Amino acid sequence: MKSTGIDALAFSGPRGYVEMSELAEARGVDPAKYLKGLGQQRMAIATPCEDTVTMAVEAGAQALERFGIDPSEIGTLIVGTETGVDHSKPVAVYVHELLGLDTRCRTFETKHACYGAMAGLTSSMDWIASGRARGRKALVIASDIARYGLNTPGEPTQGAGAVAMVVAEQPRLVRFDPTRIGDYTRQVMDFWRPLYSKYAFADGHYSIQCYLDALSGARGDALAEGDTGFDALAASLYHVPFVRMAWKAHHRHFELAFGDTLEPDRHESWQRFEHSYRQRVEPWLSLNAEIGNIYTGSLFLALIDLLRQSDESLEGREISLFSYGSGCGATYCIAEVAAGANAWKSQLDPAEYLAQRRRLSIDEYESLMQQTEQADLAESLDPVSHGLDGGLYYVGTVDHQRRYRRG
Ligand code: CAA
Repeated sequence: MKSTGIDALAFSGPRGYVEMSELAEARGVDPAKYLKGLGQQRMAIATPCEDTVTMAVEAGAQALERFGIDPSEIGTLIVGTETGVDHSKPVAVYVHELLGLDTRCRTFETKHACYGAMAGLTSSMDWIASGRARGRKALVIASDIARYGLNTPGEPTQGAGAVAMVVAEQPRLVRFDPTRIGDYTRQVMDFWRPLYSKYAFADGHYSIQCYLDALSGARGDALAEGDTGFDALAASLYHVPFVRMAWKAHHRHFELAFGDTLEPDRHESWQRFEHSYRQRVEPWLSLNAEIGNIYTGSLFLALIDLLRQSDESLEGREISLFSYGSGCGATYCIAEVAAGANAWKSQLDPAEYLAQRRRLSIDEYESLMQQTEQADLAESLDPVSHGLDGGLYYVGTVDHQRRYRRG
C-alpha cells in the first residue's frame, strides 16, 4: 500500500484583526465569556479586497515555494470552501490560473460546510493510491471567511483564512493510515447559509451536540477494526470553530475511549482527562485563538500549530484528526508525524504573518462588514485604502471579480 499524506503546509489570512476583549466591551458582554468561555483572543477580519480566492492563492503559493515544489508537479487542485464566490464557477479555477498550474490538472471545489478540505484531502490520497496520479501531487486548499453578522451569538466565532496542503507519496510532514479513517453523515439543520444570505444561520447549541455525535460516529467507524490506544496518541486535533469546542470534543473523545461518563466529582478520571487535554490538545490551539474560525481550514490550522512547535520526539508518533462540517459530515483519522518533519517547522510557521497584522477598531470592523456586504455590486475596490500592498493578491479595481498581484 502506498504511503500518502501531507507533504507541505502553509497558512495565509487577512491583514486585519479585532481584539475579542474590545468586541466584548462594545457588545456589553463580560470579556471573560469570549476569552475564557469561548477561548478566543483575536479574530481575523477580511476587507472587501481579500476573498476566498486571494487567501487561497497566497497560501497555495507559500506551500509550493517554501517546500520547493514546482507547479508542474500538481495534477489535482481542490479548494474546499463554504464561502464560494460564484454559484457556478469554482474558486479553484481562479486559483489554478494565479498559481500557474499546468492545464493537465483536475481542478474543482468541494463544499460541505467545514468538511470540504478533509473531503479534498481524503479524495487526493485515494487519487494517489489508485495510481491515477502517476507520480504527481495534489494541492488541497481550505479557504473561508466565517461571517455571522453583527450582534449575533455567532459574531465572536468569526474569522478568516486559508490553509494549503500538498498531498503526496512519501510525505515529509504527516502520513495517514487508510485503514483507520472513518466517516459519518447525517442530515441535520444545525448551521446553514441559504443562497440569499452572506451570513450563516446557526442553531448554536444544537450544532455543538451534532458535532459531538459526529465525533462518536466517525471515530466508531475509523476504529471498527480495533483501537490502538488513546494514550498512545501524541496529540488529538479537532475542528475548532472556537477554542473551547476542542475541550468539549476531547471530553467526548476521552469518554468514548474509556467507555465511561466523565464527571468533575470523580476526581481521578477527571484529573486524568484534564492532564490529557493540557498535554495533547491545548498547546496546539494558539493559532485558532489568534485567528478565529476559518471553517474548513480550522483543523489544519491546529495541525500547523502542532508541527511548528514540534521537536524530533514527535516524529513517528501517532495523532488523531477530526473534521466536522455542519449539515453534517465528518471524518476521524489516525495519522503519523513523518520522520524528518521537524526540519520543516520554520517553513510552515505563520509567525511572520501574525506579526504584520493590523488591529482594527470596532468602528473600522463594523464599517468593513458593511462594505463587504455591498462589495459584489461595487464598481471599484481600492486595495491601497485597505492597507494591502507589497505583492499581495487582492480583489482589485475596475472589475472587482478579478484578482491581481500588485507590484
Ligand atoms: N465568564 C466565563 N465563561 C463564560 C461567561 C463568563 N462571564 N459567560 C459565559 N461563559 C461561558 C459559558 O458557560 C459557555 O461555556 P460552556 O459551553 O463550556 O458552558 C460559553 O461561555 C459560551 O456561552 P453561551 O453558550 O452562553 O454562549 P452563546 O449562547 O452566546 O453561544 C455559541 C455560543 C453557541 C458557540 C455561539 O457563539 C454560536 O452559535 N456560534 C456559531 C456556531 C458554532 O460555532 N457551533 C459549533 C459547532 S458547529 C461547527 O463546528 C461547524 C462550524 O464551524 C460552524
